[in-house]
Amino acid sequence: MKRSKKGLLIVFEGIDGTGKSTQMSLLATALRQQGFEVLETREPTMGRFGQQIRALYNNRNGVTPEQELELFLADRREHVHNLLMPALMEGKIVLCDRYFLSTAAYQGCLGDTGRSSTIPGSSDTQPSLAFGHSSTIPGSIDTQPCLAYRYTPEEIIEKNSFAPAPDLALLFYLSPQIGIQRITTGRGDILNDFEHEAALVRVAEIFDSLNLPYIHRIDASGSIESVSQSVLKAVRPLLLPLDRPKETS
Ligand code: TYD
Repeated sequence: MKRSKKGLLIVFEGIDGTGKSTQMSLLATALRQQGFEVLETREPTMGRFGQQIRALYNNRNGVTPEQELELFLADRREHVHNLLMPALMEGKIVLCDRYFLSTAAYQGCLGDTGRSSTIPGSSDTQPSLAFGHSSTIPGSIDTQPCLAYRYTPEEIIEKNSFAPAPDLALLFYLSPQIGIQRITTGRGDILNDFEHEAALVRVAEIFDSLNLPYIHRIDASGSIESVSQSVLKAVRPLLLPLDRPKETS
């Protein structure tokens, strides 16, 4: 996996509802106050593939698991090429809300539960209850059954070898039930097709099982302020060797 030559890539990972986006924005503010040049970005992006992914939020059934994985990879390829690598080469600190560990967890669990091998509309179609996928796209040319989908989280990470490994992956952990409560009661949002409890429980298990040198786990159950302190503590050692292009006020 390619490493960034300069700059710093810090990614924010975890199940939905952990508050990672809030933490990313707090970290960005703190780093800018210290004089660093910071780029905040996220995946899925707002680019052409990201838009296609967002269209799936309320109907994940519209694509096969393979196609869903390909969309996330295509979105990331574009993101890495157009934004992440150039910013890293300019020496910026890049903060990215979700990256390939999300793909490992969210698309890594598509191979292990509730598969359907039948064509939607036939009498014995049983779409996956947990993940909202059935096997084929009605009317599409690709009507292969998706039983062949067996990518493990490790294989998915391997498929991301085009993307620079993060210098730090902050992996926010929280019980999926509390995450869901925060989304529904706290934010008043409706759960999208990626956020149902059975799926999130499995996604959280995969996140828990990941073991890579750049992962730093953060307990997301505390207050915004206490979690933010944990984030700063994890990031601080990486800042020492960096140049600060702007004067600190
Ligand atoms: P989310 O962080 O909620 O983005 P936004 O707030 O912009 O909608 O991410 C949207 C969903 O996409 C989330 O439920 C996880 C899912 N996802 C994947 O399944 N695979 C991936 O590779 C990424 C980046 C996200």
